[in-house]
Amino acid sequence: MSKSTKGLALITGTTSGVGLNTLNPLLRFGWEVIAVNRSNKRAAEIAQQSLSDSEMKNIHFIEIDLSDLEDVRNGCSEILKKFKNPINSIICNAAVYKPRLRKPERSPQGFENSMAVNHFGHFLLINLLLENILSSEKEIVLKGRAIKFKPRITILGTVTANYSELGGKIPIPAPADLGDLSGFKNGFLSPISMANGKKFKPGKAYKDSKLCNMITVQELSKRYSKERIIINSIYPGCVADTNLFRNTPWIFRFLFPIFQKFITKGYVSQRLAGERVAQIASFRKYAKPAVHWSWGNRQKKGRKAFSQQLSNRIVDSNISKQTFELTRKLVGLD
Ligand SMILES: NC(=O)c1ccc[n+]([C@@H]2O[C@H](COP(=O)([O-])OP(=O)(O)OC[C@H]3O[C@@H](n4cnc5c(N)ncnc54)[C@H](OP(=O)(O)O)[C@@H]3O)[C@@H](O)[C@H]2O)c1
Repeated sequence: MSKSTKGLALITGTTSGVGLNTLNPLLRFGWEVIAVNRSNKRAAEIAQQSLSDSEMKNIHFIEIDLSDLEDVRNGCSEILKKFKNPINSIICNAAVYKPRLRKPERSPQGFENSMAVNHFGHFLLINLLLENILSSEKEIVLKGRAIKFKPRITILGTVTANYSELGGKIPIPAPADLGDLSGFKNGFLSPISMANGKKFKPGKAYKDSKLCNMITVQELSKRYSKERIIINSIYPGCVADTNLFRNTPWIFRFLFPIFQKFITKGYVSQRLAGERVAQIASFRKYAKPAVHWSWGNRQKKGRKAFSQQLSNRIVDSNISKQTFELTRKLVGLD
């Protein structure tokens, strides 16, 4: 027990919302944290506003713009050089949502940008750090106790990407669906902007990218046994007042939290969402493979996390295998 050290957790997107609010519980549980953001300076300034100087000493900031695959490669090399101990837990949290775009924004590699940030950037990051994280099983101190911690990856999914739930069936602009994947098959470069190769729908592009996040969890869990690593997704609840909605009309930003608080009762505070993410990424009771953890769409006091049923669009083994293999090609892993 005397050889136990702090565990190392990596999280993307800590400048606001869920990611920012995950830092505090991660540090409280005893993690040393790698915070991956587009700007170290901005991320450190924001973290400083809610964390003490001694907490800040346990955060290491690494600059990666997830939209740029070259940046992901450089950032991962920096991580692998800089940290002596392997990473124990990775949390893929960063995302961009731009439902009002008339035409697609393009990543430096020319891909539709929400797919590039939310899926491709994280997919490449996970794959480049996979050997490192797989080698991390050892005793670490969490919540003051020395425990053997199995490597873990947690990806933020969402209700609107899961056709098995009511929120996943919302037809505006369309439910998440990768169709025949012809957009990916044909290289996903201009004029292609959607995984299914059809007309650009910015809100659906976000949902599709989150669907890809959730598929990644299922496919990785098939490829790497639960004896070696635990890979999960999580829907923390509707955190209706984060910056994720910064590109929606002001009237939506005003009404959406009210609607979620009082009508659907799906609203979750940023603080609670951060606590949930940190717990799923840390606690032994959540170390079950390929689970999509949820607390349901109507928040009830004292309700425990459960394994949310997933749609065929996420678990179908043919779709998930194809999505995984096509993504490997698109991000340059093959
Ligand atoms: N809010 C919800 O109701 C809800 C519900 C279900 C799931 N989620 C998921 O929860 C996660 C966090 O969302 P949130 O609501 O907390 O959103 P948020 O407040 O907008 O936070 C998103 C984070 O991602 C970062 N990011 C964006 N583009 C990036 C890039 N190119 N490279 C690196 N980092 C980038 C942002 O950094 P910058 O400051 O640099 O932009 C920010 O730190 C997302 O995966 C989202 O899909 C949210």
